[in-house]
Amino acid sequence: MSDPKKLFIKTYGCQMNVYDSERMAEALGPSGYVTTDAPEDADMILLNTCHIREKAAEKVYSELGRLKRLKDANPALKIGVAGCVAQAEGEEIMRRQPLVDLVVGPQSYHRLPALEARTREGSKALDTEFPQEDKFDHLPARPAPARGPTAFLTVQEGCDKFCAFCVVPYTRGAEVSRPAARLMAEARDLVARGVREITLLGQNVNAYHGEGPDGADWSLARLIREMADIDGLARIRFTTSHPNDMDDDLIAAHGDCDKLMPYLHLPVQSGSDRILKAMNRKHTAESYVRLVERIRAARPDLLLSGDFIVGFPGETEADFRDTLALVEAVGYGQAYSFKYSARPGTPAAERAELPEDEKSDRLARLQALLNRQARAAQDAMVGRELRVLFEKPGRLEGQLVGKSEYLHAVHVPGGEVRIGDIARVRIVNSEAHSLSGALV
Ligand code: 5AD
Ligand code: SF4
Repeated sequence: MSDPKKLFIKTYGCQMNVYDSERMAEALGPSGYVTTDAPEDADMILLNTCHIREKAAEKVYSELGRLKRLKDANPALKIGVAGCVAQAEGEEIMRRQPLVDLVVGPQSYHRLPALEARTREGSKALDTEFPQEDKFDHLPARPAPARGPTAFLTVQEGCDKFCAFCVVPYTRGAEVSRPAARLMAEARDLVARGVREITLLGQNVNAYHGEGPDGADWSLARLIREMADIDGLARIRFTTSHPNDMDDDLIAAHGDCDKLMPYLHLPVQSGSDRILKAMNRKHTAESYVRLVERIRAARPDLLLSGDFIVGFPGETEADFRDTLALVEAVGYGQAYSFKYSARPGTPAAERAELPEDEKSDRLARLQALLNRQARAAQDAMVGRELRVLFEKPGRLEGQLVGKSEYLHAVHVPGGEVRIGDIARVRIVNSEAHSLSGALV
């Protein structure tokens, strides 16, 4: 047998790309590839890209420029671009950067072995179709090595919401839910391999409506409840959700499903009804605040996370203050905030942009508030007893790091616990980016 070829994958963007990168590595296994952490050793380099904001796409082109050195040193090296930039730009990538051999969109990963073979014959290979089949059905069954205690599982992909600023409906396509029986089987397999916490992924995960084994449509709440019956699985999370798809059963599950963790990422984007309308969000600030109240009634200790965009076209100082007011009213334990970035092909890109310094100023003000709230939420954990799932060794000798129910990183000096255990920890300190405590 010939030596295995080495594959280096660099992942940008969201957790779904992290999941997809793992699946791409598995898809290329039968073609003779094993993964490497060292790009200079690689026979193939894949960039799994993100197109959500301008900076994300530009980073890909600068990285490709840097790879020229490796390609000069090893002309047999194949370079591929996968993910959402591949989908959005297609052939343009090869025009702009001739060293690229392969471009593959997010719905075509099961075709990677054939595309790779084409590059070995010296041709360029491109596939940015939206095929009918489920790409995951065609990937080889996962090999069965043990895994760390946490895993992602993509249950739904694509989005039909068409927020006016967002490329996802174009790069990931229409909403597709994977069949529930396959997801249950995948979850059981992950648990058999040592996984204790599964995060269900989807661009619009709470719109999940997959075909159940009984022929009925399963909602996300149903899927979560069924997964909660898997012995050995201790924790379930899901991300990312649209407010309009939080149905009653999913809200109830936050209160009555013990394995569903008290953490919810629920983007609102803006607190101004005028801007929400222009964004095509199809909800108001008020309806979002009411929704959060209902979820917190089901689960009072819920830690809420959100996404915000400042400087959307037409946003006035008064609109921006409405966003600050919403943040004050809701209270976030964690948040991601961005300056609006025009994405070609989206409706908002047709509109006049705000000056850059105005966007920067608003982002700084919003982040100051969000950081204060996140800090307060983290500090409030001091003195409490949390349950921590230990994921990896810490930087200090003997130390272990894990995550609490609320997704804060927690350090303990070590002791009678191992990676994969869930143990009670008394929190004694809140540091810059993590908590520390002692085993109870
Ligand atoms: N500009 C800035 N932020 C954006 N997001 C999505 N599209 C854009 C854009 N064009 C943000 C949203 C979304 C998160 C994943 O990225 O807040 O929820
Ligand atoms: Fe993009 Fe999310 Fe809006 Fe869908 S719901 S268009 S993924 S921001």
